[in-house]
Amino acid sequence: MGKLEDIVSLCKRRGFIFQGSDVYGGMAGTWDFGPLGVMLKRNIMDEWWRFFVDRRDDMYGVDAAILMNPRTWRASGHVDTFADPLVECKECHGRFRADKLVDGATESITTEEFLKAGVKCPTCGKENWSEIRKFNMMFETHVGPVDDDSSVAYLRPETAQGIFTNFKNVVDTIYPNIPFGIAQQGKAFRNEISPRDFVLRDRECSQMEIEYFVRPEEWEESFEKLRESQHEFLEGTMGLPKEMIHELEVPAEDRAHYSKRTIDFMFDYPNGEEELMGLAYRTDFDLGNIQRESGKSMEYRDKNTGESFVPHVIEPSIGVERLFLAVMSACYAEEEGRIVLKLPENLAPYKFCVSPLLKNKPELVEKAREVYEILKQKYTFVTWDDSGNIGKRYKKQDEIGTPKCVVVDFESLEDGAVTVRDRDTTEQIRVKIEEL
Ligand code: GAP
Repeated sequence: MGKLEDIVSLCKRRGFIFQGSDVYGGMAGTWDFGPLGVMLKRNIMDEWWRFFVDRRDDMYGVDAAILMNPRTWRASGHVDTFADPLVECKECHGRFRADKLVDGATESITTEEFLKAGVKCPTCGKENWSEIRKFNMMFETHVGPVDDDSSVAYLRPETAQGIFTNFKNVVDTIYPNIPFGIAQQGKAFRNEISPRDFVLRDRECSQMEIEYFVRPEEWEESFEKLRESQHEFLEGTMGLPKEMIHELEVPAEDRAHYSKRTIDFMFDYPNGEEELMGLAYRTDFDLGNIQRESGKSMEYRDKNTGESFVPHVIEPSIGVERLFLAVMSACYAEEEGRIVLKLPENLAPYKFCVSPLLKNKPELVEKAREVYEILKQKYTFVTWDDSGNIGKRYKKQDEIGTPKCVVVDFESLEDGAVTVRDRDTTEQIRVKIEEL
């Protein structure tokens, strides 16, 4: 694993991630995915969807609007409680998340506890603090041409509510057997006080969430199954090393307002252990609140037994950027004077790179083009590279994680075989073109 600055530099150099609005000096907490980043991000998101939705019989997808009726956020508790502890330095007026300045502190830190910790301002080094106040992290906007209290709306801080508000629509159109899950991928927005650690804490991020609806008495069984499947996905499909993932049973005082049990899946990022994803038991908190706020029944009617009840919910929720950074951190290696991104094949933006040994020999270029077309037909994600010398091409492909480089040389014209170089071992073998 590299240092965070090495990964940031690779991401910029090779077109994975750029600072948002870079040309205007940037915008804190926002990031733009470049050509390679988009490919890797899409692979991650597609694999998640295949694993949790396409391959299962008990999962359905939705893609809800980002702007939702503001009653959503009153009912969900976000208007009242989705807040972080904000503290201001009275000397330089820097604003910080109080719990992030004190080792081991939680979001419920009090002013007294904070002042006792003797924290110096990270910006000016002085120790003259305001009281801690709760800062609501939802981005507020106005919908329509009138800018008053009646037009206030919020950018969604979690995708989950778009699932809960569609619970009845899905039940009434699909008639799923309980237990079943509804999945969604999409943008979420949080006005983080201190965005940090590259894409780890952003103001605009993408979430992949499942709300899994169960009979109240069966929540523990589903919780365990979903817990196991998170490991299968993270370790098996994303290729994250088991020893870099740690489960944290979140104590009651640190859990989100809706949760009766939460396990955070922590990951060993370059700057230390941080939350990668959460698995929460949300009870009937959300459906119950929607029922009260809207006056509409959120009950599920079992076709077999005839009983009706408000289901309870287990929620696995993961941020795409955090998973992206975990994958990058786990795959980044510096060995024998080279940087190599050992991405699993299913995630690598390109599966093959094809090149002629020399680009000024038309017969080599023509043969290499033929090979390129064959592989492109078969694998789609194939790139062509005839820039610089072969060493430079290998260096570039190692850094963007291309598993195999295929080189056409003079011998290829004679024996119809090419050199295939393996990214991880740098071993080279000869393979007949028709056997590629
Ligand atoms: N619906 C539940 C929910 O939103 P959360 O723990 O606040 O719970 C879930 O967020 C996941 O979303 C986190 O584990 C993390 O992966 C990601 N996430 C949350 N806030 C983020 C941020 N500011 N930047 C990047 N990812 C974030």
